[in-house]
Amino acid sequence: MNHSGADSAPDSRETAIRISGLWKVFGLDPRRILTDKYRNLGKTEILEKTGCVVGMRNIDIEVKKGEFFIIMGLSGSGKSTLIRNVIRLVEPTAGTVEVLGEDVTRMGEARLLEFRKTAFGMVFQHYGLFPHMTVLDNAAYALKVQKLPKGERYARAMRSIETVGLKGWEDQYPGALSGGMQQRVGLARALASDPEILLMDEPFSGLDPLIRRQMQDELIELQAKLQKTIVFVTHDLHEALKLGNRIAIMRNGEVVQIGTAEEIVTAPADEYIAEFVQDASPAKVITAGSIMTEPAVLLYAWEGPKTALTILKRERRQAAFVVDREHKLLGVATRDRLERFIAEREAAGAKDAGTVRLAGELVSEVPVAREEMVLEDIFSMARANYRAVPVVSESGRLLGTVKTDDIFDAISPSSPEHAPEGGNHV
Ligand SMILES: Nc1ncnc2c1ncn2[C@@H]1O[C@H](COP(=O)(O)OP(=O)(O)OP(=O)(O)O)[C@@H](O)[C@H]1O
Ligand SMILES: [Mg+2]
Repeated sequence: MNHSGADSAPDSRETAIRISGLWKVFGLDPRRILTDKYRNLGKTEILEKTGCVVGMRNIDIEVKKGEFFIIMGLSGSGKSTLIRNVIRLVEPTAGTVEVLGEDVTRMGEARLLEFRKTAFGMVFQHYGLFPHMTVLDNAAYALKVQKLPKGERYARAMRSIETVGLKGWEDQYPGALSGGMQQRVGLARALASDPEILLMDEPFSGLDPLIRRQMQDELIELQAKLQKTIVFVTHDLHEALKLGNRIAIMRNGEVVQIGTAEEIVTAPADEYIAEFVQDASPAKVITAGSIMTEPAVLLYAWEGPKTALTILKRERRQAAFVVDREHKLLGVATRDRLERFIAEREAAGAKDAGTVRLAGELVSEVPVAREEMVLEDIFSMARANYRAVPVVSESGRLLGTVKTDDIFDAISPSSPEHAPEGGNHV
C-alpha cells in the first residue's frame, strides 16, 4: 500500500540509496509495534494503546545516483526521522538502508563514522555553524574530522567556499553574515569533502522568500554542475516542484505517493495529496512531451506547392508543418503563401511550378519546443505559431505538436482531460 502512483519510470542509473521496509518507533520496547497485534493499527491508536510514537512505517524508497529527491509532508509526518535514519543519526527499528551498495544498518560503529564523513554531506535548517570559527574553519571542519593535512584541508575548503559564491568572506565569523550567507557556509561545509550524497533537511526554511528563491536557483545550478545525489526535505510544495526530479509525499509516517512533479500534480494518489497540490500551477509541471499529439496534417519537403495547397484545402487547414526525409522539421507552409507563390509563377508564365519543392521561401521557420519543456515555457511560442507548437528532438526531428487549445485545457483547473477535436489546427 505504500507506493501509489507512478514510481515505475525505468531508470538505468545506479542506485545511490535503497530503503526497504524501514520503520522507526519511538518509545519503550519499540519492536513489539511490528508484531501483528499492532503493526496495522493507526498512529494514534498505537500511541493510545502502547505509548509508542510511530515516526515512520514501512518505507520503501530507491534514490538513483545524481537524482534530486524530495521528501515532502506536513509537520510531524516523519521527514526528518527518515532522513536521519539514512545515516543512523536515529537508529531504525526495522528494515534496511543500503547506500552506494553498503548496508548502513549493519555497519559497525567505526565504519559508520567513517562512512558518514566520506559519503555524505549534511545541511540542516539551522545552519549549525560554529560561531567562534571563521567561515573558512567552518567549511574545513568536516575535513579536520577526517584527519586530512592542514594545507589540503584549507585548499579544499576554499574551493567549496568559491563554489557557493562566498569568496572573500573566508576570514569572517558567521555572526557577520546574513542568513542566506550562513546557509551557504553550511552548504560549503557539506560540499568540502566532495561527498556523493547531500542530505538537506529544510535548509532554506529559515530564509526570507527572495533569498530563499535565490538559494534554490543556486542549488539547481550547483546540482547541474556537480551532479550529486540530493535528498532534500521540505514542506513547501513550490520548492519541491521546482527542485525535485522526484517527490515522495509522507503522511503520518508513511509514504503515500512517489512520482515526478508532473505525476503528482496531474494524478494525485488520494484526497490528501490532491489538497496538498491544489495550489500548484500545472503550467509549471506539465511537459510538452506529455500533451503533444501527432500532427493531423503533415507536409513533406519533396511535395510541390500545388500538392501542398491541395492537401491544405482538402483538410481545411490554413497551415501545416513541413518535414524532410529524416522527419526533421523544416518549418511551416501556409495556404496564403502557397497561393501567392503559385499565382505569381503562373502570372509570369513560368512552366516549372510543378518541379519546385517545399523549401526556402515557401517554408517559414517557427519556434520549437523540446519534450521536457513545461507549458509555462511554451506560452510565448504558442503566440508565434499557427495554433500548435512543434516539439522536436535534439537533432531536430519532429516528435509531435502541442495544440494551443490543449495547452489551455491542460492548465485550466476544471477542464476535462481531453479537449474536443478542434477544427483548424496545424
Ligand atoms: N525523539 C523522538 N521521540 C519521540 N517521538 C519523536 C522523536 N522524534 C520524532 N518523533 C515523532 O516522530 C514523528 C515524526 O517526526 P519528524 O520530526 O520526523 O517529522 P517532520 O516531518 O520532520 O516534521 P517537521 O516538518 O515539523 O520537521 C512525530 O510524530 C514526532 O512526534
Ligand atoms: Mg523535520
